[in-house]
Amino acid sequence: MSASAPGKAILFGEHAVVYGRPAIAVPVHALQARAELTTSEVVEGGMLWIEAPEVGFSGAVDLQLAGSSSERADLRQPGGGSADEDAPKEPPADPVAGLALAVERALEHFGATPEAIAGDRSVGLRLEIRSEIPVAAGLGSSAAVTVAVLRAAAEYLGESLPAGTAAELALKVEQHYHGTPSGIDSAVIAHGKPIYFVKGEQPTPLSVAAPITLVLADSGRAASTRQMVDGVRQRWEADRPGYEGLFDRIGAIAAEARRAIQSGQIAELGPLMSENQQLLEQLGVSTPQLEVLIAAAQAAGAPGAKLSGAGGGGLVMALATAETAEAIHDGLLAAGAARAFTTQIGS
Ligand code: MEV
Repeated sequence: MSASAPGKAILFGEHAVVYGRPAIAVPVHALQARAELTTSEVVEGGMLWIEAPEVGFSGAVDLQLAGSSSERADLRQPGGGSADEDAPKEPPADPVAGLALAVERALEHFGATPEAIAGDRSVGLRLEIRSEIPVAAGLGSSAAVTVAVLRAAAEYLGESLPAGTAAELALKVEQHYHGTPSGIDSAVIAHGKPIYFVKGEQPTPLSVAAPITLVLADSGRAASTRQMVDGVRQRWEADRPGYEGLFDRIGAIAAEARRAIQSGQIAELGPLMSENQQLLEQLGVSTPQLEVLIAAAQAAGAPGAKLSGAGGGGLVMALATAETAEAIHDGLLAAGAARAFTTQIGS
């Protein structure tokens, strides 16, 4: 039995959403994270053997000791775990600790102890992760892996895990990865539907009146969400009125985009995306490489394009139609994107 969760893309409102403004996010079902939790005789009760090839880790962690990432790093078994030198270095928080934390949160939620669920003190657990979602690429890989792990744990225990509960538990784990996440990634991934999101509130499902075609391009540069969010916070602290003004305008764009999406006025999204991108540039989270990709998408026919997610690298998103998608896709690859794909929302 394996559980899964999709990637995500933020359509409007990243960063401002951390400061209470609304944002819109969509699931990316073409990319999935999968997790499987089983018993393991390789490790004893209370231990978790993790196989996570995408973060270059294979080894054991102790589930009984809840703790910080630094404590967890020490818990890797000497000779058991192997950190791959070529593994991605981002996000900075220990992804293995995040995986163990997700299992712990689920066990805690269902009132199970690691030993009790194995049914035998001499038998531990094994968690296998396979993810198609590039790490630190703006596609929500950490939240997707976390939701998949929570679902795998629920499946293992024969429990059900409603989307809202999965989102809440995943947010607690995301705090480990990203410090002060708004919760939008966990919410859109757990619900698996387009959402209009305000931090601290239940996400509102977004009805999409006419299909939206997007071309998504991975810039190939990994960026740490935590560092990007911290950078915005430092600049906000140095210039609160200026940054609050930028956040207000980004929030207003998300609200306008919501109306356009709900009424099927898809053409209105192009200029809104481009304006959102300019505001993200003013927040200091864009890069020259991302702007080259955005210009290439526009030159190939996109009426609007922006970075998506934390910025600093990661993802670019361009508005397309069935007719223009291929040219935009090719234009993004020619401008240096590591990969690009077309996705339709509300089809
Ligand atoms: C990351 O996908 C989106 C940010 O707004 C951070 C957050 O909302 O937690 C940059």
